[in-house]
Amino acid sequence: MTRVFSGVQPTGDIHIGNYLGAMKRFVELQDEHECFFCVVDLHALTVPQNPDILRNKILQLARIYLAIGLDPAKTTLFAQSHVPAHSELAWLLQCITYFGELSRMTQFKDKSSGKENVSVGLFTYPALMAADILLYDTDYVPVGADQKQHLELTRDIAQRFNNRFGETFVVPEPLISDVGAKIMSLTDPEKKMSKSAEDEMGRISLLDTPDMVKKKIMRAVTDSENCVYYDPDKKPGLSNLITLMSVQTNRSVEDIAAEYDGKGYGQLKKDLVEVTVNTLKGIQDKYNSISEDEIRKVLSEGADKARVIAEKTLQKVQQKMGLR
Ligand code: TYM
Repeated sequence: MTRVFSGVQPTGDIHIGNYLGAMKRFVELQDEHECFFCVVDLHALTVPQNPDILRNKILQLARIYLAIGLDPAKTTLFAQSHVPAHSELAWLLQCITYFGELSRMTQFKDKSSGKENVSVGLFTYPALMAADILLYDTDYVPVGADQKQHLELTRDIAQRFNNRFGETFVVPEPLISDVGAKIMSLTDPEKKMSKSAEDEMGRISLLDTPDMVKKKIMRAVTDSENCVYYDPDKKPGLSNLITLMSVQTNRSVEDIAAEYDGKGYGQLKKDLVEVTVNTLKGIQDKYNSISEDEIRKVLSEGADKARVIAEKTLQKVQQKMGLR
């Protein structure tokens, strides 16, 4: 069976961009593949975190994984820090990753620009991400468009290792959707929707109330042309709303644009509120029905399963590199 791995950071508010761009796909993949979905808590530490808040966010993200429909009977759900092989392989991979490669990562440049005291962890973050993926002989990695460059680096690292030390790693393929892989901010549609941006009006959290969803969508930035067509360069705000409608209704963006041409932006926004509230309702009902004991049990059993596979890969890599 082919293997799938992906991860989400337990930081900020998990939003509809995370869901439509990546996590919804996780649920679809679990029936046909052997899947590993990880709460990447070590990645969260690359920027300062409050320990108590982080501890809660780890459980909250695991609860969200269950609420969107991931089934622990089919899929391995676990926290990265519960499987020490992730940190250990990350070190080994850092030793075959070049400083120049990490310096070219656009996410590092964005997150570090203008900041003092940028952690070394933020810089080496992509090597830890490569370790996450390569430990499980992963064939496919479902992610949003912002992770494409990290996936290319992961492939380069895997190929370099295989060339130097002999066939070891499976070289993974990214799975990036055609529509919805980059959901934009509702208040600043030139930027992607972000979990941690200060302005929370820019994102729809998976846990937002119907009133919040309505307020955010009705206030979403569009343009003054009042003519509905899909063109992300000329009309980023409106095109983002069309995209949100398209991925939630499984209809093409052209189809949506044609339907609302003549009806105006207001009607599109009103209908999008209804569709979005409905998407979130299913997730939130399930979210509220899951106990903390259940989450802890799922994470503990998931880590036990993941550890066996990860440890085997790690030992193989250590041996090939001249350790052990
Ligand atoms: P993270 O936690 O930032 O985001 C989780 C997933 O959501 C996708 N995403 C989006 N998709 C569409 N529109 C958006 N506005 C949007 N924002 C985020 C991300 O692409 C991601 O798929 N480095 C990763 C976590 C990670 C990982 C891994 C992923 C660590 N190890 C191994 C895959 C495999 C991250 O920070 O995702």
